Amino acid sequence: MRIFLDTANIAQIRSAAKMGVISGVTTNPSLISKEGHADYEAAVKEICSIVDGPISMEVTVEDAKGMVEDARKYAKWAPNVIIKIPCTAAGLEATSVLKKEGIGVNMTLCFSPNQGLLAALSGAAYCSPFVGRLDDVGHDGMQVVRDLVEIYRNYQMSTQVIAASIRHPLHCIAAAKAGAHIATVPYNILMQMIQHPLTDAGISRFLSDWKRLTQK
Ligand code: E4P
Repeated sequence: MRIFLDTANIAQIRSAAKMGVISGVTTNPSLISKEGHADYEAAVKEICSIVDGPISMEVTVEDAKGMVEDARKYAKWAPNVIIKIPCTAAGLEATSVLKKEGIGVNMTLCFSPNQGLLAALSGAAYCSPFVGRLDDVGHDGMQVVRDLVEIYRNYQMSTQVIAASIRHPLHCIAAAKAGAHIATVPYNILMQMIQHPLTDAGISRFLSDWKRLTQK
């Protein structure tokens, strides 16, 4: 499973990129707004220059024509821009147009296997089931990831599953075990994935033993 960073924070993206563990970034209007990127074009271009992989930028209109226009504009910003489009009838229509133009789509706000199936049929390169938001309302969000992995595999569909709305490190393990192609992970959760108290304790003991030897 690959890991994308789910943020529009440039410092976090630089930090995660340095570790060599992320291969893409997902943004959404809320994440861009949180960072106060009034010049969001410049921000997205900068992110695209830091990470050599798919960078998702979301449309902010609801009609198919407007989505296609937004997508064409964003796709010109950098070769690795991927367009996030919500899973609605208009979103499916826009995706099928963009597929023919070679513009990659990440179908977002996906909450059911049927939505994910339609996303693949419309030509989306990626589909993002929102695990945490489903968990929040008492559903098993990861089941949608499992179902989509199975459905895409059954029919050799090329659409990749991005486990999104990840809330804690256990979600990452479950997504990897479910066979998700990608999990898009907030920076704080990426940091939690690295942490283990026994690693810290081990380093501390090794260093103090080394000091005892070398300072004799
Ligand atoms: C990423 O593609 C999604 O926009 C993001 O994971 C949503 O996460 P949230 O449910 O925590 O806002």
